[in-house]
Amino acid sequence: MMNNLTQHQQSVPLEDREAKNGHSAAVLWFSGLSGSGKSTLAMAVQKVLFEAGFQVTVLDGDNVRHGLNAGLGFAESDRNENLRRVAEASKLIAEAGMIVLSSFISPLAKNRQLARKIVEPLNFFEIYVSVTLDTAEQRDPKGLYKKARAGEIKDFTGIDSPFEEPDHADLVIVNDSQSVQEGVQQIITFLKEKRIIS
Ligand SMILES: Nc1ncnc2c1ncn2[C@@H]1O[C@H](COP(=O)(O)OP(=O)(O)OP(=O)(O)O)[C@@H](O)[C@H]1O
Ligand SMILES: [Mg+2]
Repeated sequence: MMNNLTQHQQSVPLEDREAKNGHSAAVLWFSGLSGSGKSTLAMAVQKVLFEAGFQVTVLDGDNVRHGLNAGLGFAESDRNENLRRVAEASKLIAEAGMIVLSSFISPLAKNRQLARKIVEPLNFFEIYVSVTLDTAEQRDPKGLYKKARAGEIKDFTGIDSPFEEPDHADLVIVNDSQSVQEGVQQIITFLKEKRIIS
């Protein structure tokens, strides 16, 4: 089957899209424990970038599990497949010239490595939203830690499923006690340093 497929060159090169948009395309891959603040940060950064005229979108764990990845569960093989697909989706959107803010726990080093491998040579930056398990568990806005502790949810990251702390992150947001606004500012500064936006 695969042998009968022919790949077509894009008729509009990415550089032309970037020149028209006035910024580079990129994937910002937010990883971190449930409750660390990935979605909150991604949504807040999106708003700032959008209002400044940049082409930006958010891909979020909970949302894609209702659509693109409906049918996948939380066993390790399904979680790996979930992340592989969203990395491919992030790449497709970045190829269209956008800044993609992808918010997924991505608990294993190999998940984050695979995402990077899929997206590169397009710009890929791993942003580790770091909080202690204590902080995440105290926030628990969805009540998931409580359920996991009670044994009502199995394979919950940080409780009975591992979270391998990123040691190759391009940016670490220490999000235990700083405001959302401070995190947003760190990310905007980072994007300027990397010349994704100016
Ligand atoms: N900097 C912050 N300071 C205090 N509370 C925060 C901060 N950032 C986010 N929060 C709060 O923490 C909770 C979890 O945030 P959020 O939903 O963004 O986490 P998440 O990493 O996306 O989790 P999940 O993986 O479950 O989707 C929310 O109630 C949010 O309002
Ligand atoms: Mg979230």
